[in-house]
Amino acid sequence: MSKVDEAIWSKEGYQKRSAVQHMFAEIAPTYDRLNSILSLRLHHRWRRIAVSTLKLEEGTAALDLCCGTGDFLMPLRKAVGQTGQVVGVDFCLPMLGLAREKVREPLSLGDACVLPMASSQFDAVSVGWGIRNVPDIDQAHREAVRVLKPGGRFASLDMARPRNKLLRLISELLFNRFVPVLGALFGKGTAYTYLPKSTQRFLSREDLAASMESAGFENVRCKDLFLGNICIHYAQKPGGLTR
Ligand SMILES: C[S@@+](CC[C@H](N)C(=O)[O-])C[C@H]1O[C@@H](n2cnc3c(N)ncnc32)[C@H](O)[C@@H]1O
Repeated sequence: MSKVDEAIWSKEGYQKRSAVQHMFAEIAPTYDRLNSILSLRLHHRWRRIAVSTLKLEEGTAALDLCCGTGDFLMPLRKAVGQTGQVVGVDFCLPMLGLAREKVREPLSLGDACVLPMASSQFDAVSVGWGIRNVPDIDQAHREAVRVLKPGGRFASLDMARPRNKLLRLISELLFNRFVPVLGALFGKGTAYTYLPKSTQRFLSREDLAASMESAGFENVRCKDLFLGNICIHYAQKPGGLTR
């Protein structure tokens, strides 16, 4: 029987935290392959676009939250150059183990809502398909603000619901049917019912932007990709020099 609870998407707080942690531990071995199939191999491109909103320069420092198997760390490294610093943090050891096989950056086992990092350390914080999964989105945003230097930038790439009603209907039909079937082919059917459900339950673009603003970010913007099924929210911590 799957270790993943059937109703993972309906859990909140601490219960959601441990259910999500178990789910990612279970799907870790197939995560990269399914990600490539589901995104039509576009996921690397989307991360590069998210990283470009961070306006990183040679020698700067970047933190990737919910780094998973490490695919954000490569474009971040490219952006900060060899003299820069890139750190990944995730609370799921099997996902970090796969990241370790790909990258040499420091990886930290930790929770995005209680970051094991000192304040005002980073020029940029990124997160990809992570904010949707944390037990307390407002708290994760506050933590991102805390570890950023004044003027530092934040980018969050995640699933979204298309603004257009017809596209939304089509994408929900496809997602609700296709994703769990594909997951089942890889022996992870239950876990992959979580993706469409958690996307439907996720905050709207406006509510996500409001959470970022109330955490302390300014200039919050968003950019749709993949017909509005993917959205990058990006923003800046007040203060510092404008980059
Ligand atoms: C969908 S994967 C995304 C991985 C990676 N960011 C990417 O771009 O492919 C979500 C990751 O978020 C991690 N995660 C979820 N909730 C977390 C939390 N509260 N703290 C730290 N990591 C978390 C999971 O362990 C998983 O590795």
